[in-house]
Amino acid sequence: MNSIDLLKQRRSHPSRQLIDPGPDAAQLRELVETSLRVPDHGKLTPFRIIGVDRQTGRVLGERLATITATHSPNADAATLDKDRSRFDRAPICLIVVARLIDGHKIPAQEQLLSAGCVAYNLLLGAQMLGFGAQWITGWPAYDRDAAALLGLADDEHAIAFIHLGTPAGEVPERPRPTFDSTYREWQP
Ligand SMILES: Cc1cc2nc3c(=O)[nH]c(=O)nc-3n(C[C@H](O)[C@H](O)[C@H](O)COP(=O)(O)O)c2cc1C
Repeated sequence: MNSIDLLKQRRSHPSRQLIDPGPDAAQLRELVETSLRVPDHGKLTPFRIIGVDRQTGRVLGERLATITATHSPNADAATLDKDRSRFDRAPICLIVVARLIDGHKIPAQEQLLSAGCVAYNLLLGAQMLGFGAQWITGWPAYDRDAAALLGLADDEHAIAFIHLGTPAGEVPERPRPTFDSTYREWQP
């Protein structure tokens, strides 16, 4: 399949329908290395990636549930269970971390976009390697206690949890934006 055909078929696979096997060590290295080839104004490398496999994902989930229980002592069992299973749904989760330098001559928005490109490359690369993947966020992406749990510095943000594995089956396509619905020529 050539690259444009692959882009035409790009899609996510629901993270809870991603099963073993995940990428082996060589595939993971190749996926991560190719995903780092992003546009980067100022060559700041405003990103890094943290890998969480199913086993460590369970530990992470348990600690997230503890944060929820601390913030919301009345949280019900379903909420806590959801937190417990946030990082063990697929064989591996790749957390894309953006490091944003405020006040730099390269605007923080541009740094964030570079990190976003890494996340998108991971999705595309996963599909090219024959895997499925989904970009998830949720409260742990926006909570500083969760950030501390992940070992993030004050200027770092978890912008994408890329769940990755073998698709368990086909999932229905969704309606897509089209050329006609999104493209206009600029009129002076
Ligand atoms: C920044 C960002 C955050 C997202 N967070 C979630 C999320 O937390 N939960 C979810 O179900 N989908 C989330 N999505 C959407 C999925 O990644 C995916 O785009 C969606 O399932 C549609 O599939 P598609 O990529 O084939 O269009 C997010 C997408 C982006 C770009």
